[in-house]
Amino acid sequence: MAQLLITGGAGFIGSHTCLALLKEGHNLFALDNYCNSSPRSLERVSVLAGIDGRDRIKVVKGDIRNKDVLRKVFGGQDQPIDAVVHFAGLKAVGESFLYPLSYWDVNVNGTLCLLEVMKTYGCRTIVFSSSATVYGFPQKIPTSETSNVQPINPYGSTKAAVEQLLAHLADSEPGWRIACLRYFNPVGAHPSGSIGEAPIGIPNNLFPFVSQVAVGIRKELEIFGADWPTPDGTPVRDYIHVMDLAEGHCAALQALLREPPQLITTNLGSGQGYSVLQIVKSFEEATGRHIPYKITPRRQGDAAFSIADPTFAKNRLGWATKRTLLDMCRDSWVWQQLNPFGYGDQKDDDSN
Ligand code: NAD
Ligand code: UD1
Repeated sequence: MAQLLITGGAGFIGSHTCLALLKEGHNLFALDNYCNSSPRSLERVSVLAGIDGRDRIKVVKGDIRNKDVLRKVFGGQDQPIDAVVHFAGLKAVGESFLYPLSYWDVNVNGTLCLLEVMKTYGCRTIVFSSSATVYGFPQKIPTSETSNVQPINPYGSTKAAVEQLLAHLADSEPGWRIACLRYFNPVGAHPSGSIGEAPIGIPNNLFPFVSQVAVGIRKELEIFGADWPTPDGTPVRDYIHVMDLAEGHCAALQALLREPPQLITTNLGSGQGYSVLQIVKSFEEATGRHIPYKITPRRQGDAAFSIADPTFAKNRLGWATKRTLLDMCRDSWVWQQLNPFGYGDQKDDDSN
């Protein structure tokens, strides 16, 4: 059992990971400024966690760039914070082209502030949310961790920069325990339908868009290109159920806490690729709803394939995905049906 700070804990992956960490018996401080989430997610997490859930998660509203807030969290406890799971950040690729300063400020400067305060308080264990986007257009499919890091958008550059910063830190002084987790395409929701992904405005990503079409909020899906060099012409991705991903964080944290100080950089993916048309079909099977779609031109910056080589995570962390594509579609659908407008307190726009 450890005392953990979870930055960005109210977000999509953070909330599911908080639940998994509570189930493992850890005590949590969740820090979030709610710029892309709702406080309701963590209220629901504490209910899902069971009888003492509420006592074992403290929620703090604040920004990772505010060192006073961080000092209060690290310095204000009876027991020291043993480790940080760092999700807080901005994550929309398209937006990162429009607002590069914000992306570097939150993702890189924010992490720097966090690391400085961690160092002051002698906390040297961190699990960092990186992304498969650091591979850019990968040289080889499936892609292993030894592939070149060549980001092709500002968001990816900020993730690569933080990975580099963490590597320098690990080299500079002994004692740091660091895991950089390169997620592939996280989707799905907790099977209860109580927590899930609640994008603000028109979803950029496939799963939330398809879910909103199925529930009737959006008219039809636009498939961005059917002329890709893939079996059915639509792009192939490695989708990972968010609960598998949450368990991947537990495995990484366990390895860091029980083993000598080290830096672990690993993919978190299934190793299995599905095309956009396969997702549509699977979603129709899971929901019994028809998903109307039309083919539109390719989206700038997309690649034909993105698939993880999951071997290293399996050997090193003893972790592999367990849930199927049908689980991902069914759980997304349960969440979407129960919460057609997300947590109900976030800004939204009109449908398309
Ligand atoms: P999310 O937006 O749902 O969660 C991020 C959380 O961080 C939000 O709750 C947001 O309010 C909070 N936050 C943002 N800036 C903050 C700040 N300055 N101070 C405090 N809190 C702040 O996103 P997510 O999908 O849960 O992603 C979590 C992490 O994983 C991010 O770092 C993201 O870049 C990374 N990641 C996500 C994906 C994905 O597909 N979702 C893929 C690869 C990597
Ligand atoms: C995107 C980001 C990636 C990020 C990931 C997870 C880009 C170029 N990449 O990955 O950096 O880590 O999200 O958040 O933005 N699609 C449609 N119609 C839609 C939406 C998507 O056809 O309305 C297609 C896309 O072309 C893609 C696939 O569905 O082929 C998956 O798209 P998406 O869910 O956005 O994820 P990625 O593009 O793989």
